[in-house]
Amino acid sequence: MTARDRLIVALDLPGAEEARRMAARLRGHAGQMKVGSQLFTAEGPSLVRELAGDGWPVFLDLKFHDIPNTVASAVEAASALGVSLLTVHALGGPEMLQAAVEAARRAGERRPRVLAITVLTSHDQAGLARLGVAGTVEECVRRLALLAREAGADGAVASPREAAVVREACGPGFLIVTPGIRPAGAPKGDQARHAVPGVALAAGADYLVVGRPVLSAPDPASAAVAIVAAMEAALR
Ligand code: C5P
Repeated sequence: MTARDRLIVALDLPGAEEARRMAARLRGHAGQMKVGSQLFTAEGPSLVRELAGDGWPVFLDLKFHDIPNTVASAVEAASALGVSLLTVHALGGPEMLQAAVEAARRAGERRPRVLAITVLTSHDQAGLARLGVAGTVEECVRRLALLAREAGADGAVASPREAAVVREACGPGFLIVTPGIRPAGAPKGDQARHAVPGVALAAGADYLVVGRPVLSAPDPASAAVAIVAAMEAALR
């Protein structure tokens, strides 16, 4: 897998026109396009089909969290769209995770890989305690990542700070997808637990998710090229 294959750009944009234009500019400079709840709610599955039809691996980041039967049906629907990665909340529990994994497997060879969300990066320890969740953020991340792995999930989404915890707990082969990437000198925005690309890879990340540092750059393609170059340097 090349460094470019490991770069996922989050298409956090208001509409299909903007998303199409951005994907076209990034052709050849990024590995995957991530469609999240904003774009999906605005434009629906047709845009996902279109991106996949254009040859992009698509990461459908809708963070499913519901009863097992409903999540299994949603995963089946996502598989039919041809997405390569999708997310479910580990907090949905082992039965829900297993139902998601089984539904993805039914899609056969072109099945999407199922990633578990452990603890949202917007939560801190006090926030978790208010929800009645015991332990430190890291203990929770570790517990939920292990739960996901035991249920057969392909990997987890983890901040750069948590990637090492997940790698250590779940071993090699468990995919780690890391948002919160900020190239050296870029504005951090609301990402409290951010890291430069090389640090995230060194912590064990397989894929990096980058949104605003690419989307808001004067030239998104050169921003992506610079991130891939930093990744290549770190992988050498
Ligand atoms: O713009 P930025 O690079 O911060 O975008 C990061 C992307 O990763 C966004 O689409 C965001 O929803 C997603 N994400 C995140 N933190 C998580 C899970 C997903 O930032 N824990």
